[in-house]
Amino acid sequence: MDKQSVHGMWSSRTAFILAAAGSAVGLGNIWRFPYLASDNGGGAFVLVYLACIALIGLPILFAEVLIGRHGRQSPINTLLSLARETGHSRAWSVIGMMGMLSAILILSFYSVVAGWTLHYGWLYLAQLFGGAGIEDGPATFGGLLGDPKTLLFWHSVFMVLTIGVVALGVEKGLERAVKLLMPALFLMLILLVIYGVRTGHFGAAVEFLFTPDFSKIDENVVLAALGQAFFSLSLGLAGMMAYGAYLPRDVSIPQAGVSIALMDTGVALLAGLAIFPIVFAFNLDPAGGGPGLIFTVLPMAFSDMWGGALYGLAFFLLLMFAAWTSSISLLEPPTAYLVERTPLTRRSASILAGVLVWAIGLLSLLGFNVWSEVRIGGRDLQGAIEFVASDVMLPLGGLLVSLYAGWVLDAKLTRKELPQLSDGLYTAWRWSVRVVAPLLVLFVLSQKFAG
Ligand code: PFF
Repeated sequence: MDKQSVHGMWSSRTAFILAAAGSAVGLGNIWRFPYLASDNGGGAFVLVYLACIALIGLPILFAEVLIGRHGRQSPINTLLSLARETGHSRAWSVIGMMGMLSAILILSFYSVVAGWTLHYGWLYLAQLFGGAGIEDGPATFGGLLGDPKTLLFWHSVFMVLTIGVVALGVEKGLERAVKLLMPALFLMLILLVIYGVRTGHFGAAVEFLFTPDFSKIDENVVLAALGQAFFSLSLGLAGMMAYGAYLPRDVSIPQAGVSIALMDTGVALLAGLAIFPIVFAFNLDPAGGGPGLIFTVLPMAFSDMWGGALYGLAFFLLLMFAAWTSSISLLEPPTAYLVERTPLTRRSASILAGVLVWAIGLLSLLGFNVWSEVRIGGRDLQGAIEFVASDVMLPLGGLLVSLYAGWVLDAKLTRKELPQLSDGLYTAWRWSVRVVAPLLVLFVLSQKFAG
């Protein structure tokens, strides 16, 4: 008999796809993808990234969702209940533990960056009412990073928004938030791409993003691309497992998974195609844009456009919403765990988890100014946390999920969760989680760390 989740269920297949796509599409696509492409050689990075999505991301996405749906609880408890059901070791619940830690770390800096988008939205709103607007993108961005009070204000606002939705629960909170905002963001990106075409530098952007220079592919580029594939698809920290727990039984996981991956990749590529024409049009260096890339480049386009302040406001607000629908999926696993394990209500649990994340976020925030001297492995505090969580912990989490789904879970169980796949496709999936994905992840990590 099918179990039900105590946290509620998605009302339909579309609701799940929207929520999961809402989790996947976020700052990772629009802020992180373009800046990583810029820092890692353009086309070379994009090519490896796309390969990682297809060969590693997609099979692990199916695995996470099916494990979640089978267990119907927060990831740790899902894995513990599967241990009871199938007799395997309880130690596999480490996937859920590690995932929760990654989620907390990622949300801590994610919220700070989402705060930047709120601040930019605010600046454009002020401009509409006669304020100065953003004349000099780099100066505005530099000024923001150097101002801990403003950063703290917006980081706090964003965490309150995130806690608010998670406190409301699955249907009322998470689902409602995504239905309208995702399509609006998509439309906005298309408008920006059209602007990019009209700058006359669209060709240069396409060449930068899609002509790989193979000599640029080294272990750092490959690791960045792998980490980004996990980050962007929300994989490796059991977040998709948490969302899978609320998925009705009749929904096809492969179909939903492919739609989510297509949407996610599509938005990232669109973001690249929106941003790089502007980079070329303003004669900027496409390489080495760093985390400030969109925050310095897009204002140049907005100040050049007729009605740019309105576009700027709409863009940064929608980006904030995209970040919001992702951040709720980062706060959901620790919240669901606290609800299951402690007498706390959903509301108190989300507040407790949220305050913890908020406090850790202060490290990233102060690393831009007060502690700007602190360097870990050549990175500032935010960069170091981002690297460890996204490029190391997510691939490791994904590796464990993959081995677990391929070797520990019985083929009968996984087959039952993927009835829509033909026998051939099911076998292909099973071997990709057993062998292909784990070997590729291990190879990439060993290139970077064992060398
Ligand atoms: N996928 C989100 C993005 O691309 O912005 C970030 C993210 C959300 C990562 C949820 C991991 C996660 F569980």
